Amino acid sequence: MISSQSPTKQGIFHDKPGLEIGGIPLPSRVFMAPMIGYNEPPLRRILRRFGSALCTTEMIKPEMLIRPSKSLLRELALEKGEYPVAAQISAREPELAIRAASRLRDLGFHMIDINFGCPLKKECAKGRGAAMMQEPKKVGILIDALVKALDCPVTVKMRSGWSDEDPSSPEVARIAVDNGAASVCVHGRSKLGWYRTVNDHEIIRKTREAVPDIPFIANGDVKDVETALSLFKNTGADAIMIGRASVGNPWIFKRIQHALLTGETLPFPNYHEIREVYDEHINSLFECLKTKNALRYARKYAFFYFAQFLNKDGRGLIAKTKNKEALLAEIDELESVTPREICPLNALKE
Ligand SMILES: Cc1cc2nc3c(=O)[nH]c(=O)nc-3n(C[C@H](O)[C@H](O)[C@H](O)COP(=O)(O)O)c2cc1C
Repeated sequence: MISSQSPTKQGIFHDKPGLEIGGIPLPSRVFMAPMIGYNEPPLRRILRRFGSALCTTEMIKPEMLIRPSKSLLRELALEKGEYPVAAQISAREPELAIRAASRLRDLGFHMIDINFGCPLKKECAKGRGAAMMQEPKKVGILIDALVKALDCPVTVKMRSGWSDEDPSSPEVARIAVDNGAASVCVHGRSKLGWYRTVNDHEIIRKTREAVPDIPFIANGDVKDVETALSLFKNTGADAIMIGRASVGNPWIFKRIQHALLTGETLPFPNYHEIREVYDEHINSLFECLKTKNALRYARKYAFFYFAQFLNKDGRGLIAKTKNKEALLAEIDELESVTPREICPLNALKE
């Protein structure tokens, strides 16, 4: 008999909420993207609670690990029970990379991710980051050496290539996997495209097709549930990474994962929900950082967490606050403000 009821809505991953990378279980399909400047343990704790099953450190230069500074070690300290966390390094020469990666293993990291996407001049001048997208053979040698030397999964994150005219990610991904990489993540812009070009779903899909045998992560320009779903659908990715739009917005992980499972969209958080998480985040920062640094972070995060509530004048007032109490007093004022329908990222560009 045909039921007259409409079929229950289902998400695209309703029966497969998570995946495994190199034997490490990841109970969701939405992960934070590594970002320089967004690497503190309190951030990782909050993002994980909101559904980012994998957290990755910002890119660490291997030479910084030879005699690491106290502040680097503080940032790299894992919280008790934190699992799994990948440490990302830039790398080219196997020997230095193995030394750095082994040090990170000793510090407790569970996976090592290699950055083939960094567009910064200093890194590319050393032949690292996105410069490696021009040297597939070097990629193979590096990954082979790391996989043989380490007792944990080695993963790679890359841009689509050096230039739009030479989209090498399918070839580089294949070589990385043939040499033992446990997963591949692709941001669909070339090094020369920086952030100016559109995130190219087509090249991400072609890279996915070149490595159908491993977990594949797509990345770039996810702002909400809708943009996340189209990235999944257009690329055939197993998971996605979110960078900029997750700053001050841990709800994005929960909302997307919920949509992947149920096909339904959760409501946006209100001021009180945002305030509770913001307070937790910055109180932890004041506990683990020097007051001056913690205040700097707390102001920066206020712009993102409360973007919908802040216009230019409001941001100016927050930027001028001289201590935690004054900052929180400004934020108290926002309770009565009607939020604007705006993505935190776009708010900051206004
Ligand atoms: C401030 C900033 C710092 C970044 N640092 C890193 C990094 O350390 N390692 C890395 O692989 N990618 C880094 N990225 C790139 C992001 O991980 C991501 O690939 C890119 O921003 C596209 O994703 P999104 O549109 O979700 O932000 C950084 C991006 C930004 C904006």
